[in-house]
Amino acid sequence: MSTTHSAVKHLYCPKCQAQYDITTVINLCRCGSPLLVDYDFDAASRSLTRESLTTRRADMWKYREVLPVLDTDNVVTLGEGGTPLLASRVLGRQLGCERVYFKDESGNPTGSFKARGLSMAVSKAKELSIKRLIIPTAGNAGSALAAYAARAGMEVCVLMPKDSPSPFLIDCRTHGARVILIDGTIKDCGEKAAQMVADEGWFSVATLKEPYRIEGKKTMGYELAEQFDFDLPDVIIYPTGGGTGLIGMWKAFGEMEKLGWLSGKKPKMVSVQSEGCAPIVRAFEQGTAQAELWADPHTCAAGLKVPSAIGDFLILDAVRQSGGAAVAVSESDIIRYSNELASKEGIFPAPEGGASVAALKKLKAEGKIHSDDRVVVFITGSGYKYLNVFEEA
Ligand SMILES: Cc1ncc(COP(=O)(O)O)c(C=O)c1O
Repeated sequence: MSTTHSAVKHLYCPKCQAQYDITTVINLCRCGSPLLVDYDFDAASRSLTRESLTTRRADMWKYREVLPVLDTDNVVTLGEGGTPLLASRVLGRQLGCERVYFKDESGNPTGSFKARGLSMAVSKAKELSIKRLIIPTAGNAGSALAAYAARAGMEVCVLMPKDSPSPFLIDCRTHGARVILIDGTIKDCGEKAAQMVADEGWFSVATLKEPYRIEGKKTMGYELAEQFDFDLPDVIIYPTGGGTGLIGMWKAFGEMEKLGWLSGKKPKMVSVQSEGCAPIVRAFEQGTAQAELWADPHTCAAGLKVPSAIGDFLILDAVRQSGGAAVAVSESDIIRYSNELASKEGIFPAPEGGASVAALKKLKAEGKIHSDDRVVVFITGSGYKYLNVFEEA
């Protein structure tokens, strides 16, 4: 084995505190909660230092000591991570903010930040000798899984709502995945996947129903810290469906505190949803710990059409602990600010990214963001897979 020097310790449950061995093939805790990964940060810090990062290749595997894969041979990579942080040229100032940055995830393999999580999940599946993976998806996660599983030689089944943008279907099939279109939302896809797990023995890599996608997504937090020279921004705006990226970044900030890398305040985390599907925003406003199912969800931002998220309590915890906010934006603003981002900044975003910019406008107008705050707006994917959405808008 050629070691990654991973300092992984075990899996733990953030709800009931149960622990599981890292070699266990497992989805959820026995109490039904998502599981998270813990590390020995003293051991990690022997080779992982802030200085060491400057000499490592700029992809997400540079943080290997705080990632769960043990054997380098099991790393399934297409070059994910290492995405640019672009200072706003026009749009930020136009909205009254002087220091806005776009974290542009669209250049990842398969065109979205989902590459990070699925690279990690497929790598860990390889390490655990799992060979058949199933996923309910709004589109981007299915594309990413199909690509990484193709590279690893694994079998994949993707379940997606039949109204998902057609490029996702073509993309998954071209990568060799079996695709099942479901007349319903991602929640219905999840139910069908659970049935197929029971009947046909697939392993589910549904959002937060396995412990490793979040470990890939958390690298966005490490990367941001590096890009800000370990003086984190004031606000992070993140378009939220299942919430893995938001929870992952918050986890990463906690980990970097344990590594002794951060001293100042952590960013306010802002969860953005569409007015057509905003279960997290409603729960945030009502002060509840979990979110109720959103009936009749609709939005052109397919990744935000998640009527209920298994990690809802973790999203809400992170947003509240950070002193952040949850905000719903209109469908017309999602399209409008996607267009603005493309025409004023040269970044053609998935509509989820347009939602992030729309949230910046709203929060600034409400006085919740100040003109000199350093704000990071997440552009989670590329607009190229949503051409029909923009054509029809
Ligand atoms: C482009 C894009 N942005 C945001 C999201 C939501 O991500 P998360 O599930 O991490 O909240 C998705 C999910 O499909 C997506 O494809």
